[in-house]
Amino acid sequence: MLQYAFDLNYVRTSVLKRYALSTNEHGGIRIAQLSLDLVEGNGSSEEAIIGYIDHDEGQRAGANQSIMIGEEQTVRRGVYVRIRDPPNAEFVARIVDGPIYTVKVARYLLELTSMVVGGTRTMIQSRPKPGSPVRLMSPEATQAYLGAVGDINVGRLVAQKEVKVSIQSSTFTSHIGIFGTTGSGKSNCLQVIAEEASEAGRSILILDIEGEYVRMNEPTMELQQLLMEFGKKPHGIKDLHVYVPAQNTSLNHEAKRFGIPLADIDLEIFSEVLGLSPFERVYMYEVARKARDTSGNFHAFDMNSLMTALRKRIEAQVDNTSIPEVVAEAHMGLFTKLSLAQRAGIIDSHFEKITPESICVPGRVSVIDMSESSDIVRNICVAHFLKSIFRYKTRTPNSSPIIIFAEEIHTFISRAKITTMLATLTMLIEIARQGRKRGISLGLVSQQPALVPSELIELCNTRFIHRVSSTPNIEVLRQSTGNVPDSLWSILLSLGKGEALVSSPSFDHAVITQIRPNKSKRLRVEQSNGTSAPNSNHWNNLT
Ligand SMILES: Nc1ncnc2c1ncn2[C@@H]1O[C@H](COP(=O)(O)OP(=O)(O)OP(=O)(O)O)[C@@H](O)[C@H]1O
Ligand SMILES: [Mg+2]
Repeated sequence: MLQYAFDLNYVRTSVLKRYALSTNEHGGIRIAQLSLDLVEGNGSSEEAIIGYIDHDEGQRAGANQSIMIGEEQTVRRGVYVRIRDPPNAEFVARIVDGPIYTVKVARYLLELTSMVVGGTRTMIQSRPKPGSPVRLMSPEATQAYLGAVGDINVGRLVAQKEVKVSIQSSTFTSHIGIFGTTGSGKSNCLQVIAEEASEAGRSILILDIEGEYVRMNEPTMELQQLLMEFGKKPHGIKDLHVYVPAQNTSLNHEAKRFGIPLADIDLEIFSEVLGLSPFERVYMYEVARKARDTSGNFHAFDMNSLMTALRKRIEAQVDNTSIPEVVAEAHMGLFTKLSLAQRAGIIDSHFEKITPESICVPGRVSVIDMSESSDIVRNICVAHFLKSIFRYKTRTPNSSPIIIFAEEIHTFISRAKITTMLATLTMLIEIARQGRKRGISLGLVSQQPALVPSELIELCNTRFIHRVSSTPNIEVLRQSTGNVPDSLWSILLSLGKGEALVSSPSFDHAVITQIRPNKSKRLRVEQSNGTSAPNSNHWNNLT
């Protein structure tokens, strides 16, 4: 990316005398009233000139400085400017550094982001001449230039608060990644996308491991003032459905309990989720076949018939000294793991299963509250809902497009588990690859992107990268995120809560965005030692 600079040295001396420079409390430059005679050429009079391109003066191209002047205005890094260099070209640039103070003036560093010749955007083939006027781009022009227009309004530019950042919901046919350290604003961001996308008619499914989203039908009580700055009011989701696994409870008292029939669960994925050894898997397939044979229906077998078939095999092994120890151990191991899964109460529960039809309804937000669930139940739920919605959308591709959010995806499938959870990873990648044609978008959230299989990260075309502090996490995102100007990566460490580097296929390049606060209510788990306690009973209803 080319960097450039502009300087007030080119302001005509007579005009220069009219400017008063002073620094404000933030170290920015206070800008004196701009005279209209400075608005030259074809420039819009609304886009005020804030400085002039400086000579390179001994510095290599791309590292010059500029001066900002004006009144009632503090120039910030990150704002977009337009430089007209008639008759040949117009340039668009972003301020990336400064102010750098000299005796009378302050300079800013620009990064050229585009060159426009004859109204057409083209590769940067030149640089603006010294003396070319630098104008602050209007909010509308900046938004249009960035391509940050669409029906999903997620926030505004951190550097230019008047510039809205929106995304086309049509780009959500690819997947969404939300990354950032603890407390950086990932859940808020998820909730904002869910609010906006459901208003745009998408169906939303949130696999909620902390029970945070179960009261989204109520308006938020938090950050209302800030919300108003974004032109929004507290508002609950109109069509919210909360489900909770049988035997668990939810902080939404209307939550509906559900079960999952064993026959609906893919046995390979089930064995991976239970952590079965290779021997245990072999025996599980054998007893499953036996249970199916006994039932007389290939599909109709349940946990009881599985356990009965296994119990019979174990009983037959008692007193049989010819059975190798490893075989006996594998049977007992399988029995223990299946008993644990059975005791979790969700499989073959008398509570009804949730049908994909009831989730894929336009504008509906469905939340699966897994806050009290064991890891086994959570993983069964995640795998089950992904698979059943994928099957449904394959059968009925014209049903409502859906976004499925899964928080802390690395705890479900991580790089370390790739070999032991191959079937699960293959399923996820298949859903991610094929899902986009069928109107399924995954919203994957993780505070440890370095642990998430790279195949999954790469499939997330729309990314919200909040503050990320560890180098491996930054590197993995950097390697796979396109259209991010180099200067923006260094900013990741300094992002505040709710600020994110947002990259989307519809954007010209990634932008640093202040995500708006959620309109609907979010519950938060009391934190201890800086980590959330998903199974904790100590809930703290903060909003
Ligand atoms: N866009 C925002 N604007 C203002 N404040 C925000 C914003 N996003 C988050 N916050 C503040 O930061 C807090 C933490 O946000 P959030 O729970 O979304 O972070 P998180 O990354 O999901 O954290 P965790 O890793 O613990 O799940 C919020 O409770 C809120 O106070
Ligand atoms: Mg969170």
